[in-house]
Amino acid sequence: MRIGILGSGNMADALGTQWTRAGHHVMVSGRDPAKARALAERLGPSARSGTFAEAAEFGDVVLVAVPYSAVADALTAAGAETGTLRDKMLIDCTNAVVPDRFTIDLPTGTSMAERISHQAVGARVVKAFNTCHESVWRLTPPVFEGRPLVVPLCGDDAEAIATVRTLVTDIGCEPADGGPLERASLLEATTAFMIGLWFRGVDAQAMLPPQKYGTGG
Ligand SMILES: NC(=O)c1ccc[n+]([C@@H]2O[C@H](COP(=O)([O-])OP(=O)(O)OC[C@H]3O[C@@H](n4cnc5c(N)ncnc54)[C@H](OP(=O)(O)O)[C@@H]3O)[C@@H](O)[C@H]2O)c1
Repeated sequence: MRIGILGSGNMADALGTQWTRAGHHVMVSGRDPAKARALAERLGPSARSGTFAEAAEFGDVVLVAVPYSAVADALTAAGAETGTLRDKMLIDCTNAVVPDRFTIDLPTGTSMAERISHQAVGARVVKAFNTCHESVWRLTPPVFEGRPLVVPLCGDDAEAIATVRTLVTDIGCEPADGGPLERASLLEATTAFMIGLWFRGVDAQAMLPPQKYGTGG
């Protein structure tokens, strides 16, 4: 698969490393060509670097991996308003989390994923990989006490969901059906809440009962 990545920071590095190892071709991009080039060199021969527009053009799948406050500008630089992302499968891993307060910097009930979907005309957006720290996405594999990490996906396009499920499996995780894109706001808010717990030293995983108790036993 050809994967364009908007960004050349931590998430681009973590997921780009995993996906090139799994045999995919990756193009990382950024506002600093030297940084993007250095990352591509680190990722190896199946990786290259380019501009945001080149990465959007390159990928069958495009990962948005810039800070939430930079997403609109990065998408514009990628040509979103001119249709460069039309029909592309777009993965949104962003979190609009306010540092220290662990609230969401968006109007209630809205999501980064839906914003991206509105801006990137015709793109098939899937919310994924936003739930864990980048260090988790670097694990080979992200398996804890014998259980592969579950990665919830929200999206409206069946082919895009199926493709992202493959990319989740490729890194040793287990995809889960999170429902349509309208539920991305819940996934984003849940993630912000969990990050707040983790920063307070609470084991967020421990607040959930086993599945058999989830709907009343
Ligand atoms: N880090 C995590 O643990 C984690 C986990 C899950 C989800 N996420 C989400 O993933 C996204 C990327 O996070 P990250 O940790 O990879 O961030 P990062 O390491 O700071 O990298 C961000 C990338 O975006 C670029 N960028 C920053 N501001 C920009 C701007 N105004 N215009 C264009 N490009 C800009 C950076 O370029 P420069 O290098 O030139 O600054 C860099 O290439 C964020 O939305 C974050 O919420 C992060």
